Amino acid sequence: MQLLSEELLRSLGEARHVMVLTGAGMSAESGVPTFRDAQSGIWEKFRAEDLATPEAFEANPARVWQWYEERRAIVRSARPHAGHQALVMLESLVPELSVITQNVDGLHQLAGSKKVTELHGNILRSKCHVTGRPISAEWLSGSAHAVPPSPYVSGGFARPDVVWFGEVLPRQALEAAMQAAVQCDFCISAGTTSLVQPAASLPLMALEHGAAVIEINPSETPLSPHADQCLRGLASEVLASLVNQLSSWKHDSGQGR
Ligand code: APR
Repeated sequence: MQLLSEELLRSLGEARHVMVLTGAGMSAESGVPTFRDAQSGIWEKFRAEDLATPEAFEANPARVWQWYEERRAIVRSARPHAGHQALVMLESLVPELSVITQNVDGLHQLAGSKKVTELHGNILRSKCHVTGRPISAEWLSGSAHAVPPSPYVSGGFARPDVVWFGEVLPRQALEAAMQAAVQCDFCISAGTTSLVQPAASLPLMALEHGAAVIEINPSETPLSPHADQCLRGLASEVLASLVNQLSSWKHDSGQGR
């Protein structure tokens, strides 16, 4: 297992605010397939634009709802892994930790992370396609329709409360994420291709504002050349090892809290 360099370990140990940005690779080991991997079976012939855009939903709400029903079933049975647990532990080792996630499965919160910002919404929540107002699970379960109707707008539908391609991110979440990026002194980017904006810019913003930035990913990404260190491996193993390293460093340097 590749270890964090001594210098970066010290930066992490002395950091006042740590930001962790997570992507689909973080959930992969919990059995939640990435968008691309999920497009198997009957879904193979569809492109992302056929399943995850407002236009796709308006053209064929039943198809899109069905796709999300299957995704929700997978998410409901998924459990956090050692990497999620490591981030819960990290919360107790640093003064402030902000977890910013592109994932819509709620696994960080299920693991016990307290300060989580969901940039792309949450698949287990639904909202009115017309007004954006939240729709309760009780309302949905009471519906026998292929796509539950909106309780607010006649002829309107319920839709998953996730950010589809071409949609803007929830303002509060984006503001919180940008604030964390400019304020943090250590940033960890884990399990993301660093391609989808605006999330991909967050580690670069952190870098510009003087933070140390590391990447955890088995593969190279556009962030890799800018990162202070790239730890090539699985999020579960690398995060667990990172937190172990930090605990030992704190203990050895007399900074255990
Ligand atoms: N540990 C760490 N990284 C991993 C692991 C793992 N076990 N498995 C895969 N990865 C990496 C891959 O190498 C890849 O770089 O995770 C990344 C997953 O890439 P994407 O599926 O493109 O996910 P992400 O970057 O999160 O996409 C961002 O785009 O599809 C939309 O809205 C969706 O939130 C998602 C956003």
